[in-house]
Amino acid sequence: MCDHSVSLIPDTLQKLFDNSSIALSLADAGQDKPLIAINTPFCNLTGYTKNEIIGRNCRFLQKNADNTIARKELREFLDNKGDLSIRKALINFKSDGTPFINLLYMSRLCDSKGNTRFILASQFEISNSYPETFAHYGIELQSTVQKITPAVAQAGIILEGSIRAIANSTSMIAQAKLTLEELKNSGPVF
Ligand SMILES: Cc1cc2nc3c(=O)[nH]c(=O)nc-3n(C[C@H](O)[C@H](O)[C@H](O)COP(=O)(O)O)c2cc1C
Repeated sequence: MCDHSVSLIPDTLQKLFDNSSIALSLADAGQDKPLIAINTPFCNLTGYTKNEIIGRNCRFLQKNADNTIARKELREFLDNKGDLSIRKALINFKSDGTPFINLLYMSRLCDSKGNTRFILASQFEISNSYPETFAHYGIELQSTVQKITPAVAQAGIILEGSIRAIANSTSMIAQAKLTLEELKNSGPVF
């Protein structure tokens, strides 16, 4: 598969992102993983404009929050050491300084040689009123992944990760609730 078609992936995915109601982002797998595509729900969630985000590593949303353990696991995942996909709760800040808990999902997009070319991510704000919205989010994320898989396959790119894991919204809700409780119980987090 020629590299030309791989270079079209950001544009292809941007179109899919634009039709989605959940926050989505795509990073280049090289260098410091700069964001190369995001959608309006991502901007609405974070309060930043596209111009303020594209080209940057998304860690800027963490400001000086102590996400040490989650960050280590994200780095291991990005270094190809972890599972096929990852879901971690991180403390992030909106552009106006409001802190929130971001449940971050990431999956790798690899070429036929197994090299990671892009990272797909989705962000969800965990709040106290989330069970129904979270269930809806899980369905949307699953549907997005299902659409992305054939779209990138045309360029010889494989989206890693299990759709089944995303679809299991009951365990996702339980996991998120637990994470929220753990963060609350671990003292002042912000
Ligand atoms: C596509 C993509 C989206 C990401 N989105 C977020 C995000 O919304 N919030 C966040 O805190 N980190 C996000 N990250 C993770 C950070 O960019 C970074 O990988 C993480 O903080 C671990 O690396 P570090 O310790 O070098 O910062 C994202 C990463 C990628 C590749």
